[in-house]
Amino acid sequence: MPGILTGTALRAFVHALPKVELHVHLVGSASLPTVLELARRRPSAGVPTEPSELAEFFTFRDFPHFLRNYLAVTSLVRDARDIHTLVTGLAADLAAQNARYAEVTVTPYNHVLDGMPSDDLLTGLATGRAAARADHGVELAWCFDIPGEKGVVAGRETVVFALRERPEGLVSFGLGGPEVGVGRAQFAPFFTAAREAGLHSVPHAGETTGPATVWSAVHDLGAERIGHGVGAHTDPALLEYLAVQRIPLEVCPTSNVRTGQFASIAAHPVRRLLDHGVLVTLNTDDPPMFGATLDGEYVAVAETLRLTAAEIALLAKNAVEAAFLPSADKTALTAEIEEILLQDPELLA
Ligand code: HPA
Ligand code: ZN
Repeated sequence: MPGILTGTALRAFVHALPKVELHVHLVGSASLPTVLELARRRPSAGVPTEPSELAEFFTFRDFPHFLRNYLAVTSLVRDARDIHTLVTGLAADLAAQNARYAEVTVTPYNHVLDGMPSDDLLTGLATGRAAARADHGVELAWCFDIPGEKGVVAGRETVVFALRERPEGLVSFGLGGPEVGVGRAQFAPFFTAAREAGLHSVPHAGETTGPATVWSAVHDLGAERIGHGVGAHTDPALLEYLAVQRIPLEVCPTSNVRTGQFASIAAHPVRRLLDHGVLVTLNTDDPPMFGATLDGEYVAVAETLRLTAAEIALLAKNAVEAAFLPSADKTALTAEIEEILLQDPELLA
């Protein structure tokens, strides 16, 4: 079929697109060698120190199992140098995939609970961000999020910290952790304060639960973008609402498969979301933990849905549109994406 790319041509086209990553957790972006190195320094944390055991540790039975192991890795990160290592490692991985900009989720409450001085966190973020720009040509922004399982105390502490420190590059405020038993609405006051201070609202919702959580994220937390949001797929009225309001979803297909939400990419509702006109962006969530890469998400979705080059480029443009970037940067990135389509007239056939 004309325009449908496969194999090497598909991978080359995806790689050439300048990409934007909107849903990646800083701790979840740690490379496997970095996790092993941190684990060897602190064997009592229960994170394996050998590659084969780490692969097993990152094979998840379900979402709660994932979260437990994710938090064990979080506990390995102790100081500004560790944060710097994570940030620059992520930047190198992004640059290698021609990803130019990322909004990175950081969970200050968990780091401080694990004993990291908050100044260390801020220093590591600042030096890492500067190095990402200087050494890798990657621009990074931050989303500070509430670990939902820690309750309203964590909500209050996170918003107070975010608004007091307001580090360079902080653009948004989020909510992660489990959804089951952790209603979104209890965090409404913290999202109101964050939004009034100019931060964008980007809670996780509809990752492990259904449409009611996504509605709550919209109504109670003023969500401007939704982390995952795929649980919306069973509610046609919600899909229409998201499409009409142009509330983007940060879809992370491999993450959803690896935490057991869907059996495969083929069984994932990304096609249904696109068919309903929802602004879908593709993202990795916690890439080495899930064996995911940003290029890989585009390739997997394109192969499974038999997308044309123009449809793949549209996904890349969606991410640019959904980003909290200045409009001049968005225009430049979109123009670059269009240029790549135009370079090869066969792609438009
Ligand atoms: N969902 C919720 N919390 C998380 C995730 C996620 O995908 N990754 C790291 N913390
Ligand atoms: Zn996430």
